[in-house]
Amino acid sequence: MKVGILTSGGDAPGINATIRGVGKTAINNYGMQVIGIQNGFSGLLHKDIVELTDSSLSGILNMGGTILGTAREKVFRKMINSPDEKDREQIKNAYHELGLDCLVCIGGNGTQRTTWMLSELGLNVVGVPKTIDNDIYGTDVTFGFDTAVNIATDAIDRLHSTASSHRRVMLIELMGHHAGWITLYAGMAGGADIILLPELGFNMKVVIDKIKERMEMGKAYSIVAVAEGVEVPTNEKPGFYFTREIQEQTGFETRETVLGYIQRGGSPSPYDRNLGTLLGGHAAQLIHEGRFGRMVAKLGNQISDVPLSEVAGKLSLVTPETDLVVQGKRMGISFGIW
Ligand code: F6P
Repeated sequence: MKVGILTSGGDAPGINATIRGVGKTAINNYGMQVIGIQNGFSGLLHKDIVELTDSSLSGILNMGGTILGTAREKVFRKMINSPDEKDREQIKNAYHELGLDCLVCIGGNGTQRTTWMLSELGLNVVGVPKTIDNDIYGTDVTFGFDTAVNIATDAIDRLHSTASSHRRVMLIELMGHHAGWITLYAGMAGGADIILLPELGFNMKVVIDKIKERMEMGKAYSIVAVAEGVEVPTNEKPGFYFTREIQEQTGFETRETVLGYIQRGGSPSPYDRNLGTLLGGHAAQLIHEGRFGRMVAKLGNQISDVPLSEVAGKLSLVTPETDLVVQGKRMGISFGIW
């Protein structure tokens, strides 16, 4: 059997561990041939490939980024959606000309949707969920998330000492796209006083009152973790919006840090390496068993899989019932609405 692997969408720490997990299992356990398709779905169209062997897959477990390159492919999705049959034929031809028996697509929500569409075209595909945002429906966790939370927590830890020295309010804006998972997990682990999430929205009066109340209690500084996806009424990034508003409305010196791509770069945590390894191995197993059109997943303590049709177009988001929200609230941490 010949298996192709591609990575698509924003990168996440643990992709290389996953490529290695798929590849080495496919080669060593199932005797398959494996090729890497470079730069996402466009590499499939252009047949931009590299042979993956046991030795070429060595030494990449701890590497950040993706050895295959990635892209946010709009043209490809348009081609699958196109009313013109020729566009879809071109995609199918590329798959068949490469002699593939299955294509493994490692990516986020958009990628899983595209993978499902490929499955609907009749191609054998397996999806592997990947994103620092942890917002993929159908799996409890995605690789990349743990590393991002570690980096963001370390950043919040570092803000505590400088905030305390200067008696300042410190804002930190964290990634996550439309989801607040990174901000919730890092905010709670880093001891933030206010955590603002896109899913919950905010009431500025609640935020301001909380900061004033802390100062009145003799707490000389406050840490606010805000997700990049929080919708604010101006064109500012949320971190800048809240910094300006808080300074204006409280008179306290306020500073922002936008952590950005640091959250996505560098070496994956041991947890993400092992998660990628397990998910990758399960993807190879699904191919061996001929169970296509599925996404590998971690559900509870089990490595499992779900139909791509159930995943496509959905998001996994924080809710008011999420355990860390409930517990944070019980401890007096503000979520911007309480
Ligand atoms: O999905 C991962 C992510 O880093 C999001 O947290 C962020 O909103 C987005 O990607 C940034 O995308 P890009 O790499 O296209 O700038």
